[in-house]
Amino acid sequence: MTATLPDDVLTALRRADTITVLTGAGMSAQSGIPTFRDAQTGLWSRFDPADLASHAAFVRDPDLVWGWYRRRAALAARAEPNSGHVALARWQQHAADRGGRLTIATQNVDDLHERAGAVVAAHVHGSLTAVRCSICDTPYHGPLDVTGDLDGTGDDTEDEIRMPPPPCADCGSPVRPDIVWFGEALPEDAWRAAETAAEEADVVLVIGTSGVVYPFAGLPALARSAGALVIEIDPAETAVSDMAHHHLRAGAADALPALLDSVLDHGEVR
Ligand code: APR
Repeated sequence: MTATLPDDVLTALRRADTITVLTGAGMSAQSGIPTFRDAQTGLWSRFDPADLASHAAFVRDPDLVWGWYRRRAALAARAEPNSGHVALARWQQHAADRGGRLTIATQNVDDLHERAGAVVAAHVHGSLTAVRCSICDTPYHGPLDVTGDLDGTGDDTEDEIRMPPPPCADCGSPVRPDIVWFGEALPEDAWRAAETAAEEADVVLVIGTSGVVYPFAGLPALARSAGALVIEIDPAETAVSDMAHHHLRAGAADALPALLDSVLDHGEVR
């Protein structure tokens, strides 16, 4: 099914000076990185992020949590940006060329937006490629080995997943992924950038998020109350669908190139 938007909405997109794009796991689904809350496959079917993505889990079993994140990092490193990431990068460049702005704020910890050529203003849940000390917060730049089965089929046992986290160069404590775990505060700068982008946008695209993890899930409502036109791109109805004025019920890799084509099709309308 090819979802389309009404002409007046396309016109609003063409005229928008500031577009903000809020992305979640669905943005990278067609790159082969499973979402958190869809049908669970591979690593995700055997290890529940909600059980492993917490400080308590790291204290209980640091090797399992570290090994699980190393597997995720390896899967993300092997994945390629999809045509949705590429379209957003092109759109960002196009916006800048005409003196406007397209700002991306993501919950995703992969780097597929960047590898498609886009600039990400805010990684509100951190990044798989960043590592820091679990005690003194010193960034870790040492070697990050990954061993074992990396086929992503998820048939590894817990013992096969387990890897001891390397020691911090400063204090010797185990390092951890620089990712926001459940119960932890978001990085202040990233959160402020995301909030500001939502407040200042003429149009907000909400892409591939179930809208259940706060505070990010509050951004569509914030944008709408600040006057933005809100468009959701997601094959399924979500907890934030009600906050959107319009919905494209399609995958990001299908919907975004088509949408960008429609927006560019009519040249510059001011
Ligand atoms: N294109 C767009 N959206 C898609 C696609 C696709 N091809 N495939 C699936 N989706 C949608 C699903 O319908 C769902 O609404 O992506 C969404 C994925 O939702 P979640 O798995 O809950 O991902 P997300 O909202 O990013 O999760 C938020 O939860 O565990 C934490 O920290 C983790 O950042 C993550 C947070």
